[in-house]
Amino acid sequence: MQKLIIEGGNKLSGTIKVSGSKNASLPILAATLLADGKSVLTNVPDLSDMRTMVKILRELGVDIEKRGPGELACKVTTIEPSCASYELVSQMRASICVLGPLVARRGYAKVSLPGGCVIGLRPVDLHLKGLRALGAEIEMKHGYIEARSNGRLRGAHIYLGGVNGPSVLATANTLMAACLADGKTVIDGAACEPEIANLSNYLVAMGATIEGIGTPRIQITGVPSLKGANHEVIADRIEAGTFMVAAALAGEDVKVEGARLEHLSAFIDVLQQTGYIIDQDEDGLVRVIKDRPVTSVQATTMPYPGFPTDLQAQLVTLLTLADGMSVITERIFPDRFMHLAELSRLGANVQKIHSSAVIKGVKQLTGAQVMASDLRAGAALVLAGMVAQGTTEVHRIYHIDRGYEQIEEKLRGIGAQITRADA
Ligand code: UD1
Repeated sequence: MQKLIIEGGNKLSGTIKVSGSKNASLPILAATLLADGKSVLTNVPDLSDMRTMVKILRELGVDIEKRGPGELACKVTTIEPSCASYELVSQMRASICVLGPLVARRGYAKVSLPGGCVIGLRPVDLHLKGLRALGAEIEMKHGYIEARSNGRLRGAHIYLGGVNGPSVLATANTLMAACLADGKTVIDGAACEPEIANLSNYLVAMGATIEGIGTPRIQITGVPSLKGANHEVIADRIEAGTFMVAAALAGEDVKVEGARLEHLSAFIDVLQQTGYIIDQDEDGLVRVIKDRPVTSVQATTMPYPGFPTDLQAQLVTLLTLADGMSVITERIFPDRFMHLAELSRLGANVQKIHSSAVIKGVKQLTGAQVMASDLRAGAALVLAGMVAQGTTEVHRIYHIDRGYEQIEEKLRGIGAQITRADA
């Protein structure tokens, strides 16, 4: 296992570049299962989650060739029934998004149930609801989901909203399966995340007919087959937001390159309320400029275009040093607060009350040994370490490597003092 060692207190300046989106790449890679012929995907980040997805797809009979930085050529070589095993699926929940493409294309899918994780229970009922509505027969046996379809799936009208709002990957699964179903499908209560729109655009390039892309009502007219297509993955809005928090915390003149600000409205609104100006120049470089002393804020995570749950932990780090008391409420994953205990080891004054973090700003954080509990919690601890006085060691960084490409090289490039070592 490895750790990151961070000497806090360096002022940051320079340009830091955003990679392709992890959460867009994962379902887009799964969608290659649907195509006849070769797809070439570009701007795919080099992350451990992506390597897990590539392993799963290879096991399922997709030939994947890495052609250069961020470029993958993918071609299905078999449509025999096959199984996505527990060994791989348990490493990454997002592997469940092979379920829809497999049952739609091969008439059979066997995918391990992903299991729980530290951010909460993470049920799969909406994935199953969407596929059942399309006519798939689904059984749960021995920890596996088995889905069958007798011939093509059938288009249907489906309401996919859940108790905590829409589901991103259940929308992806149902959408992908509906593209090959017989007839028209309407998904109401669909997730509107830019990653779903990016997936939809890839499916359209493959020959799918989709209306309402990026809206809560997606209408799909099924086609008998799809062909391979070239497609570029969008920039990672969560990585962009993480770098913007770094700029806010310790930046003198940090420029974030490649951020799509139109995907970050709610996050930008919160940064502005705390006292920052967000500026984008004609070259697209984004600066986060302190306008006044940073003050507390109230925010609630919500489905897109609301404040993203994947930036909640990083925001909490920023607010540990803000003047006053902030309250950040989780509406997507009510238990996603494992980072609070670790931030308090760095001297933050934070408490969890029901599904909210209550943060009272302190003057200074101090370095300590801490542990990443999940991907974004890990990023929040790295950010905190960069402004803490003294040395911070972040352990279990395999979580961080799931979603941040070369994090220490990128942060060193803007002046952070951060190194990787064996723990
Ligand atoms: C995706 C993102 C993840 C992000 C999350 C919420 C990927 C690879 N991951 O995960 O980074 O944090 O969206 O924006 O894109 N739910 C159900 N039943 C289901 C499925 C989900 O009740 O069948 C609930 C979840 O428990 C949660 C809410 O719906 O409360 C949203 O989760 P969901 O959008 O499904 O998360 P993922 O798609 O797994």
